[in-house]
Amino acid sequence: MTRGKLDAPVVLGSARAEHIESMIGQLAELSEGGPGVTRLAYSPLERRAHALFAQWMSDLGCSVTTDAAGNTIAERPGAVPGRPAIGVGSHLDSVYSGGRFDGIAGVVAGVELVRLLAEAGMTLEHPLRIVAFAGEEGARFGQACVGSKLAAGLTARHVLDELTDRSGTSLSAAMREIGLDPDSAAAQGWDADDWAVFLELHIEQGKVLENSGAAVGPVDLISGSTRLSFVMTGRPSHTGGTPMLNRSDALAAAAEAVLIAETLASDDTHRGTRATVGRLSVEPNSITTIPGRVTFSLDVRDIDADRQRRAVTEIVGRVMATCRRRKVTLEVNLIADTSPVVMPLWVRQALVAGAKELDVPYRVLGSGASHDAQMINTFVPTALLFVPSRDGLSHVPDEWTEFAQVATGVDVLARAVIGLDKSMTASERVASKEEL
Ligand code: GLV
Ligand code: MN
Ligand code: MN
Repeated sequence: MTRGKLDAPVVLGSARAEHIESMIGQLAELSEGGPGVTRLAYSPLERRAHALFAQWMSDLGCSVTTDAAGNTIAERPGAVPGRPAIGVGSHLDSVYSGGRFDGIAGVVAGVELVRLLAEAGMTLEHPLRIVAFAGEEGARFGQACVGSKLAAGLTARHVLDELTDRSGTSLSAAMREIGLDPDSAAAQGWDADDWAVFLELHIEQGKVLENSGAAVGPVDLISGSTRLSFVMTGRPSHTGGTPMLNRSDALAAAAEAVLIAETLASDDTHRGTRATVGRLSVEPNSITTIPGRVTFSLDVRDIDADRQRRAVTEIVGRVMATCRRRKVTLEVNLIADTSPVVMPLWVRQALVAGAKELDVPYRVLGSGASHDAQMINTFVPTALLFVPSRDGLSHVPDEWTEFAQVATGVDVLARAVIGLDKSMTASERVASKEEL
């Protein structure tokens, strides 16, 4: 049961687009400069975004803490002491030159949800925790969902030393620079008993909702992602003096590798596989020297775990053959590997019920991108709700969702949270009677 003042019936208002616009605008100001938003994982700018979120939440009467991984958690107490929490949240970091909605929409949705409950004078039976995860984007360190993975206890301590950014700074060094302790981060995951369910609102980053005219999308499957780094070493020498038949050109080999990945993921046996080389660096990167060393990334995503791993093995096999033929040496390292996840039906049904209650058109769909929800779902039943992305664009400055569309998502999320609060309370009552 939700309780209002003097137990009078309480009426929840609607999320306000202008609140959402204002918060998203303030967060977008926290950027390194250049096109779009650049607020990288475990950077001082990301910390400033967390501090702003913490301020909003404490202004709304929540207690705010930061966990060892740098995730910020704001709690609104529940009416019944000792209950596990309902969690809501997403992330505040961005990719290089990204948009202002990826992750941000879900955090801001949590703030607006608390504002709606506070304005209605409504207290849930369970505590409500709004979470801003740290370091979700893999753009800086290669691995996605760092904060939520640490919360789930899924990251070994040595990984924090091994992951490095473009300038060679390790994730553990970056953590120390912003006052976090990597030893504690790897050792102190969240306590599963402390959480009942978790919900994340996120922009779709695809066109399914836009094309179907649905306003929200409860997610049934989240793609897995395998990320590799390749180092190809050839023989640098003079571009004029070296005949074409006597070369070991690392960039030419890398170019073949890019097309091997694209061709394989585009063939009929790999429907649904997505393979991308998104980062590539050439040494010495000179107009008059044959490229001697090329480093590049490969990201293979799929909603089918077997197909994901088979695609990776096949691409690496074909690239090895290319390198042998071209007399280029090859080193391949695994950066990260996550499996696809099926989201639990009973939590998703609360989102569907929320959409139906408000008569909001919905469509159940899969996610091509990775999400914190994927990691949290390994120890707390979790649901993910998409709102539309204009033209399906994301990870670019043009990423856009109307503020009113985010507000509609918040309204559905709010009904789902209230519905779960009631149904879990009812089932806890039944369980405790059965125990008697
Ligand atoms: C997160 O944005 C991802 O790369 O899927
Ligand atoms: Mn995201
Ligand atoms: Mn992203």
